[in-house]
Amino acid sequence: MRTFLSLAALAGFLLTSGAWTGEAVPWQPAPQSDLDAQVRRFLDSRRGYWHDMNVSDADGRAMFDIIVGHKYKSALEIGTSTGHSGIWIAWALSKSGGRLITIDIDRYRHEQAVANFKAAGLAPYIDARLGDAHEIVPALPGPFDFVFSDADKEWYINYAKAVLPKISVGGCLVTHNVSEGGWGRNGEYLRYLRSVPDLETTLVGRGGGMSVSYKKEAVTGVPEGYR
Ligand SMILES: C[S@@+](CC[C@H](N)C(=O)[O-])C[C@H]1O[C@@H](n2cnc3c(N)ncnc32)[C@H](O)[C@@H]1O
Repeated sequence: MRTFLSLAALAGFLLTSGAWTGEAVPWQPAPQSDLDAQVRRFLDSRRGYWHDMNVSDADGRAMFDIIVGHKYKSALEIGTSTGHSGIWIAWALSKSGGRLITIDIDRYRHEQAVANFKAAGLAPYIDARLGDAHEIVPALPGPFDFVFSDADKEWYINYAKAVLPKISVGGCLVTHNVSEGGWGRNGEYLRYLRSVPDLETTLVGRGGGMSVSYKKEAVTGVPEGYR
């Protein structure tokens, strides 16, 4: 009887903890402030409901760690959608008093994102712009410590060309849906990143993956073959 009860308790623990189903247990930093608690409550309430091409929790957390780890203050996001990645980025920036500019061309998603930023308590850290990033990004003065590129994939190289000179030395360009062995535009983009002098690129994440490129020195030129 005692063995049966122990097994039942173990099964109950595995099911409720997510270990039994193989689901990743969501990670979030322990709240240290009222804002942390508000962001956590918001993310908890929306977990599983991000259906507008949004990043996963794991990708959001990876960016949070990069930004907090480097104490970045000035960030740009290309492709807001409804704001999931923007919330992770702005939450990290709230630790350093930084600010995020995020851009989307779709009015409906932009408006949803603005409402989500407000509900998460992060609106003061975010400048959400509605418009075409093809025009807005080259016109932004920078500098940026952190850029997240997650809009139209066929424009990735153009976005990188526009932002790399504006990223501070030691800063970082993260691009979504980039993986090793990728073909077509994905493969060409990764080859481009690896060809840029003084840019150190690694890949993180499962599934779509993300490239993480740190800028070591001022990137002055566009590599041969990409002019
Ligand atoms: C993959 S979704 C972004 C997801 C978001 N980063 C997140 O994780 O919550 C890509 C977004 O890029 C936007 N987009 C596509 N082309 C664009 C352009 N030229 N300018 C601005 N936004 C664009 C789309 O409207 C879409 O909302």
